Amino acid sequence: MSRPIVAETVSALRAQIRDWRREGLGIAMVPTMGALHDGHISLVRMALEKAERCVVSIFVNPAQFAPTEDLDKYPRQLARDLERLAEAGAHLVFTPGVAEMYPAGFATRISVGGPSSGLEPDFRPSFFDGVATVVAKLFLQAAPDYAIFGEKDYQQLCVVRQLCRDLDLPVAIVGAPTVRDADGLAMSS
Ligand code: PAF
Repeated sequence: MSRPIVAETVSALRAQIRDWRREGLGIAMVPTMGALHDGHISLVRMALEKAERCVVSIFVNPAQFAPTEDLDKYPRQLARDLERLAEAGAHLVFTPGVAEMYPAGFATRISVGGPSSGLEPDFRPSFFDGVATVVAKLFLQAAPDYAIFGEKDYQQLCVVRQLCRDLDLPVAIVGAPTVRDADGLAMSS
């Protein structure tokens, strides 16, 4: 079992990806907020089927939390996540801090129409703007060939597909089946 490379900055991420591209290797990305469970690991396995290198991002994205939601209470367990990703065979884990993703003066938000209306935004109005903004950034930072998203968050999957279509982001979005606990409940962080 080899440990994945950990990149905390966009420049370290890009340097490694540049090396892999020089070797002609394909990249598949799994964006996550950490606290990984078997559902995430199934996304990593799918990424490894799609490309020679699997990049997992772990970033608890403040932009998708409402002021009433407790961002600080979101589970963070990086050491355990890294163990699980080493076992699963991920090659690189991108763990930027908030200042790396949203430096002082950051002022852009991406708002996707279409699949973003109704359902989730009825309860969390700016949720999908936050998701679209961070996913667009991750795709521009890592420039993966593929990105894997769970069908569990089906509306999010549709929003990400729309985002890539509308902004001509050259990333193939792959939906992966939901992994469930023994009682049938979808696994979730
Ligand atoms: O599904 C998630 O964990 C998050 O919404 C995502 C896609 C990683 C963006 O922060």
